[in-house]
Amino acid sequence: MSPSDPGSSGRGAEPPSHRDAHGPPAPAGDGAARRDGDLARPPLPDEIVVLRDIRKRFGDQEILKGVNLVARRRETTVIIGGSGAGKTTLLRLIVALERATSGHIFVDGEDVTRLSERELNRVRKKFGMVYQYAALLDSISVFDNVAFPLVEHTRLSKKEIAERVMSKLEILGLDPKVVAPKFPSELSGGMRKRVGLARALMLEPPILVYDEPTSGLDPLTSRLVDDLIEEMRQRFGVTSIVISHDIASCFRIAHQAVLLIKGRVEASGPPDELLEGDSDVARDFIRNSAVDVDSLGRVTR
Ligand SMILES: Nc1ncnc2c1ncn2[C@@H]1O[C@H](COP(=O)(O)OP(=O)(O)OP(=O)(O)O)[C@@H](O)[C@H]1O
Ligand SMILES: [Mg+2]
Repeated sequence: MSPSDPGSSGRGAEPPSHRDAHGPPAPAGDGAARRDGDLARPPLPDEIVVLRDIRKRFGDQEILKGVNLVARRRETTVIIGGSGAGKTTLLRLIVALERATSGHIFVDGEDVTRLSERELNRVRKKFGMVYQYAALLDSISVFDNVAFPLVEHTRLSKKEIAERVMSKLEILGLDPKVVAPKFPSELSGGMRKRVGLARALMLEPPILVYDEPTSGLDPLTSRLVDDLIEEMRQRFGVTSIVISHDIASCFRIAHQAVLLIKGRVEASGPPDELLEGDSDVARDFIRNSAVDVDSLGRVTR
């Protein structure tokens, strides 16, 4: 290992090569081993989530076909793409709910593809998940929904849990005394999103991931959710990874958009660069989204 390698983890397994992971295919045999070593080189400190040549198979179907992706700290990365492109699968790999068939995934500098199931539990706590329709449990109160991660993962007293739940609800702009005893079905879509976010933030994770957070919401509420995503980033310094079919939302919140088509990254970069870049597929995808892209600008920056 080269002593000049600034990102070196000192693990000793990496070969002394610094070729780019996107470079020409390596030959078989020793070359293949060296190429895997390249893919396993540590990311830069700024790169909080890194995927290198990720493949995922279910049976004989390859869903992800060599995905490379870098999400930077405190930025918002939005993954867009057609239905069935593999977006949710990609997200499940990132949060370590599913294992990749091959390739390397780094979270906060650590190669999670090398970890045991037990070690993965530690990695999972770095992520707060916000699901489509907020995915709250309807049979229990808002309080119990938000308290759930603390009850499950900490040994805090009931009093401490109550304090944290009430304070998180308040931070998210909800009146805790009014909202905590209610059931999710008694709340509006926007309020449910806030409760879902409060729950995702309970363990104060450095990374928030959202799967279609604006799906099923009217345009006004979608905008509020976008503002909320940006607010979480600014207030708590979190990194956001968002799956979205909503191109307007992507333009509003993304530092980086990643277009996934049939298990491959077709293009990635700032949304306006995708719109004006070399990839016809990316341009068409955005132009065909029925959004007036010429009128789009970022709301919060
Ligand atoms: N556990 C699984 N077993 C088998 N096939 C799966 C599994 N999970 C996902 N798939 C398949 O992988 C493909 C991609 O699914 P995925 O849910 O990742 O797509 P998506 O891009 O999120 O789509 P959508 O926009 O509809 O949510 C689909 O063909 C799906 O049937
Ligand atoms: Mg999906």
